Amino acid sequence: MRDIGREQMRELLSAPVFRQIGGAADELGVECFLVGGYVRDLFLERPSKDIDCVVVGSGIALAQALKAKMGRKAHLSVFRNFGTAQLTFPSSAGENGRQAVEFVGARRESYSRDSRKPIVEDGTLEDDLSRRDFTINALAVCLNHDRFGELVDLFEGLLDMEDGLIATPLDPDTTFSDDPLRMMRCVRFASQLRFRIEDETQEALVRNAERIKIISQERIIDELNKIVLSPRPSIGFVELSRAGLLPLIFPELAALEGVEVRNGRAHKDNFYHTLEVLDNVAQRSDDLYLRWAALLHDIGKPRSKRWEPQAGWTFKNHNYIGQKMVAPIFRRLKLPLDERLHYVEKLVGLHMRPIAIADEEVTDSAVRRLLFEAGEDIDDLMMLCEADITSKNAERKHRFLENFRLVREKLADLQARDNYRTWTNPITGEEIMQTFGIGPCRQIGDLKQAVKDAIWESRIPNTHEAARAYMLEKAGEMGLEPLTPTD
Ligand code: CTP
Repeated sequence: MRDIGREQMRELLSAPVFRQIGGAADELGVECFLVGGYVRDLFLERPSKDIDCVVVGSGIALAQALKAKMGRKAHLSVFRNFGTAQLTFPSSAGENGRQAVEFVGARRESYSRDSRKPIVEDGTLEDDLSRRDFTINALAVCLNHDRFGELVDLFEGLLDMEDGLIATPLDPDTTFSDDPLRMMRCVRFASQLRFRIEDETQEALVRNAERIKIISQERIIDELNKIVLSPRPSIGFVELSRAGLLPLIFPELAALEGVEVRNGRAHKDNFYHTLEVLDNVAQRSDDLYLRWAALLHDIGKPRSKRWEPQAGWTFKNHNYIGQKMVAPIFRRLKLPLDERLHYVEKLVGLHMRPIAIADEEVTDSAVRRLLFEAGEDIDDLMMLCEADITSKNAERKHRFLENFRLVREKLADLQARDNYRTWTNPITGEEIMQTFGIGPCRQIGDLKQAVKDAIWESRIPNTHEAARAYMLEKAGEMGLEPLTPTD
C-alpha cells in the first residue's frame, strides 16, 4: 500500500475532471467527495475503474450542472428512483475511451429484515460513509476547492488497509443483515486483495450466512466469479467454507470436504486438493472457465466413493459422473449454458486421461485418441492435468511429471505429423456405398471404424490410398464384393 499525503493526493487527482467537479460543487454551495473503490484503489495501486462521488445535497443537481459545463461531449443519465446520476465523457483513462462518474446524494438508510430495499433519507457525509460495506471502502477525498485532496477517514480504513484487514464500519451484524450480498463481497475482497477478515466480522459472517438466501443468484455468481478470478482463489473458497456460506451457495463443492478413515486407511480431502489444483491453474491462466474446470474436476468424487476391502477407497468413474453434474450446476448457478459449459464438461470428463496414459506406456494410439477427443482444448486439458498432480510423494510426483513430458512430446510430434485435432476419416460412407453398390447399413460404420483404428494405431498411413486398400481388404473379410465397372 502506498502512503499518500495531501500533496500527493492532489497530484494523483490531476485529471481536469476532479477540479471541474469541485468547481461545480462550489458554485452550487454543496460539499462533494470522491468515495468508495476509486479511493481504495489509489492507495492499493490497483487500476481504478468508475469514479463515485457523494454530494452532501443533490447528486442529480451537481451532475446536471457539470453536464451544462461540459456540453455535448458529456452524456448524462438520471435515475430519479435511486437519486443518482451518471455522467460519461471522453477520456483516455476510462474503458472504451470514456470515463463514467456516478453522483449520489449523501444518504442515511435503514433496511427492513426481508428485503434489500432500503428506506432512504438525506444524511450527512458520516451517515453515508457509515452505511458502506467495509472500512477500506468508506474513505472519502474532498473535491471542493478549499479542501481539495483532503482525506476523510472516519473508520480507520487506512489502518485496516495497512494491516490487510477487511472490517465493517458499523457492527458487522448490521452491515451484513442490511445487505447480505456484502458477505460475498467480504470474501471476494479477502480473496482479491489477499486480506484477512477481521475476527468479529468473520463471526458475523457465520451468524448471518443463512440470509444469503434472499440474494439473487445473478449477484451471487458475479461475486463467485470474481473469487475464481482472484490471484489465489483458494483464499476465497476457504473463507466461504469457514463462514458457512459454501454449503448454501455451492453444496456440491462443500460435499468434497472431509476425510474418512477405515481400517487405518484415509482418502485425501478432496476439497483442499481441488483448491490446490485451482491455485495451480490460476498461476498459469486467467481463463475463467479453465478455472471452473479445475474447480469442478473432482466434483463427482463424493457420488463415486466406495470402500473396497482390497483396494481401499476408490472413486471409479468420478470423471464421468462429474461431467454429468456440470450442466445442472451451471444451470443453478446461472453460469452460461453455451459452448463454455461444453468446454468445462469436456475437461472434467477427460481429466483422468493424460494421467492414465502417463501412468502406463505412452503409445502413439493412446495419445492420438486423446488428441482427437480433446481437439482444440488439448493444451488446456494438459495444463489442468499437470495442475492435478499434487502428490506430496516427491518420487511419485517426479515420475508423473516425467511421463507428462513424454506425453507432451508425443503430442507435439503427432500434431506435426498428422494434425489429429482436425482429423477426418479419408474414407467416407458415400465412397463405401458407391464401391459396393449398397445402401445405408451397419457395415458402413464398421468399415469406417476399422479404417480409423488402423490409422490411429499406426498400422497404416493416414492417406486415402492406404485407407482404401485396407477398407477393401476388410470388406472382403465381411463378404462384400466391389462392383465391377460393367455393373
Ligand atoms: N457498497 C456497499 N455495499 C454494497 C455494494 C457497494 O456499501 N453491497 C459501496 C462501497 O463503498 C463500494 C461502493 O459502494 O466501495 C461502490 O461499489 P462497487 O462499485 O460495487 O464496488 P467497488 O468497491 O468499487 O469495487 P469493485 O469495482 O471491485 O466491485
